Amino acid sequence: LVSESPAFTDVGVFDPSGKMVAYAGPPPSLAGKDYSEEAWFRRVHSDARGHIISDVFLGFREEPHFVVAVARPIGGQTWVLRASVDPDKFASFVGGVQPTKGVEACVVNEAGQRQTGMGGGPGPLARMPSRDGPASIFEMEHEGRSYVAAVSWLSETDWAVVVRVPRDQAYASVQRTRLILTAIMLVTLGLIVVIVVRSTRKLVHQLEQGDQTRHELRGQLFNAAKLASVGEMAAGVAHEINNPLAIIYEEAGALKDSLDPSLGDRVGDEELRERLDQICEATMRGRAITRKLLVFSRQHDEAPVRLDVNELLDRVLEMKATEFSVSNIAVTRELGEGISPILASRNQMEQVLFNLLNNAKDAIAGGGRITVRTRRDDRFVHIDVQDTGCGMTAEQMEKVFFPFFTTKAVGKGTGLGLSISYGIVKSHGGRIEVSSEVGEGTTFTISLPFA
Ligand SMILES: Nc1ncnc2c1ncn2[C@@H]1O[C@H](COP(=O)(O)OP(=O)(O)OP(=O)(O)O)[C@@H](O)[C@H]1O
Ligand SMILES: [Mg+2]
Repeated sequence: LVSESPAFTDVGVFDPSGKMVAYAGPPPSLAGKDYSEEAWFRRVHSDARGHIISDVFLGFREEPHFVVAVARPIGGQTWVLRASVDPDKFASFVGGVQPTKGVEACVVNEAGQRQTGMGGGPGPLARMPSRDGPASIFEMEHEGRSYVAAVSWLSETDWAVVVRVPRDQAYASVQRTRLILTAIMLVTLGLIVVIVVRSTRKLVHQLEQGDQTRHELRGQLFNAAKLASVGEMAAGVAHEINNPLAIIYEEAGALKDSLDPSLGDRVGDEELRERLDQICEATMRGRAITRKLLVFSRQHDEAPVRLDVNELLDRVLEMKATEFSVSNIAVTRELGEGISPILASRNQMEQVLFNLLNNAKDAIAGGGRITVRTRRDDRFVHIDVQDTGCGMTAEQMEKVFFPFFTTKAVGKGTGLGLSISYGIVKSHGGRIEVSSEVGEGTTFTISLPFA
């Protein structure tokens, strides 16, 4: 045994009284020495299995070692065979099973005390796992370093093998995996961000295109509406001019007939005057329409000048003052200060204001109030013409700017006032808006850019 492994220091045989009767090992021979009081000798005698492995201790040679002892009954008496094992040699055997660099191994006893190996050694282990449980893995501190350690009981002995590895090394692969996972996550995240950004851009682009299409469609629709109103206008003009022409034709025919003696009496002076009056009235109606249309078509003829809006309003209201007071209409002026001049044709602007004021007057029956207001923002002058008249339905509001739309009695309105005003304001780079409430009144707002 001794010659087979350098870990075995010596081998001895002990008689029942505990005396070594045979010795094999390095000199001096320990044969003849009495071991009956040794702890391991007494343990092997009482051990049910008949064999023990002692803890590391100093023997007669004063050198640390542990023993493997086997007891056998021979002739009714117990004889013992013992081998001493050099813990360092044993340790080099245990430590030699080093699968990885930096991994250390040692053997500890039941109390966790180190028996072999591990250089300076981890010292006594604070707690030992239960023998029946699985191998235990825990973290420990030793000489300022952190380790991950595993304890596994050896079968047949009261010893356990402790393997420890520096913490950072133990978790190196975990760390690496974590790094790889983080990298993969970052890459995935990046990809997701790129995809999201690209799809958002695409979506925004599509929305913009949709907007553009909608805009174009609206333009087309507006043009179609314009075309329709040109058609309406033509029909309207024909109708509006046909009516007075029919009246004139009829009256003139009647007068001509009265000159023919075969058809009856000549008409009296009174009737003649009446018929001529009808002709004059019808002619005036036709002329009103053609005049308005002419103004409408010559909109761009007059050169624009710098106009003070407040002054213009004062003049127009002055001209209307008598008419309003007769109709029992009060006028309120709320003219803003520091309003920059606009660039516009005076006649056309007057025409717009007259149209709005006439409409307001017509909407008020039996007295009310017209408020004229001016204000400005950073680009436009806004003129409100507000009345306390009958107001309009939503349906009427949609049509007010269409040529020949009128709710007024035949002969009272041509329905051209607002469509002409709309054209004039548009041609000056401005806009005209309406808000109205049936029974409450109406406000028209003209917005014109500064000169
Ligand atoms: N201030 C208002 N209050 C209520 N309804 C209004 C007002 N202004 C205009 N309207 C309505 O809009 C219609 C069209 O007005 P617009 O000025 O174009 O023609 P009109 O006044 O009928 O005729 P014209 O102006 O040619 O004499 C009016 O007939 C009326 O129904
Ligand atoms: Mg009008």
